[in-house]
Amino acid sequence: MKLSILAFVSLALSLDFVRGQGGLPQINTCGTISPSPAERTAQEAQYQASLKAKPVPERLDDVVIPVYYHVTYANQTFAGGYISNQQVQAAFDMLVSGFQGSGFTFRLEEVQRHNNPTWFTLVEWNNPPTEHINQEMKMQTRVGGPRTLNIWTVGMQRAIGYAQYPWDYMIAKHTDGVTMKYDIFPNNGDSYRFGKTLIHEVGHWLGLYHTFEGNSCFGDNDFVADTPAQAQATDTFSGCGSRDTCPTQPGLDPVSNYMDYSSDVCLIQFTQGQKDRMWGQYQTFRA
Ligand SMILES: *[C@@H]1O[C@H](CO)[C@@H](O)[C@H](O)[C@H]1NC(C)=O
Ligand SMILES: [Zn+2]
Repeated sequence: MKLSILAFVSLALSLDFVRGQGGLPQINTCGTISPSPAERTAQEAQYQASLKAKPVPERLDDVVIPVYYHVTYANQTFAGGYISNQQVQAAFDMLVSGFQGSGFTFRLEEVQRHNNPTWFTLVEWNNPPTEHINQEMKMQTRVGGPRTLNIWTVGMQRAIGYAQYPWDYMIAKHTDGVTMKYDIFPNNGDSYRFGKTLIHEVGHWLGLYHTFEGNSCFGDNDFVADTPAQAQATDTFSGCGSRDTCPTQPGLDPVSNYMDYSSDVCLIQFTQGQKDRMWGQYQTFRA
């Protein structure tokens, strides 16, 4: 691993910014936007057609995904986004451990630090008035092609992470990657969320939907056969006890699955079907 530090200094703007009220975060776990059922079906038809046209190679060795970590900051304090290399490493190690046995591993190529108060405070999830700042940051900093994972840490108030799906690479190359709220890493003092959201977001980046996608007990929803039907996301603060939002369907809610919204202490697995889907998605859209 090579940790080098690049500082990009830009104009500091004075910004008044209203912060949350403290206590438990009242924001979405994940901001990755769910496509409509029609879009999901159309996208899946395309994916299945390309799988037929170009079958994916067998999974032999793990694919190693190069990772560029972009730490944006307003000033050199924690509140200003200046997380330490140890905190980046801890977040990265959590990502690697979540994907053990999945066919994917990760190599941290570089941590790039960007001193840019505008980016740190204004890059948001799904916020049209500041979307041009998001575009600007990613256009100026993204490294590599479709196989390279770029992770940006920003102040973000409206979500704690979001990702771009692999099939969108062709239409939006420069925004491809994962955006994370800067304080999401292990031992950050939050006993509900200590870094597994990054595993979840990279699951999206490799083509997984939520296990509760479509919020329905019927239909393909996440297009993974071995994740039980789930009509509703598990509430992050409701513990890991068994739940069943689809009692007429086989299986309990997958509360231990990385693609649910349970507390991080519950999340320990991807199913074989999800691993197969990530492999197929990677080979189709990123390899
Ligand atoms: C650093 O930046 C954060 C976020 O904008 C701000 O809340 C904090 O007051 C700043 N601290 C200093 C010492 O300037
Ligand atoms: Zn998600």
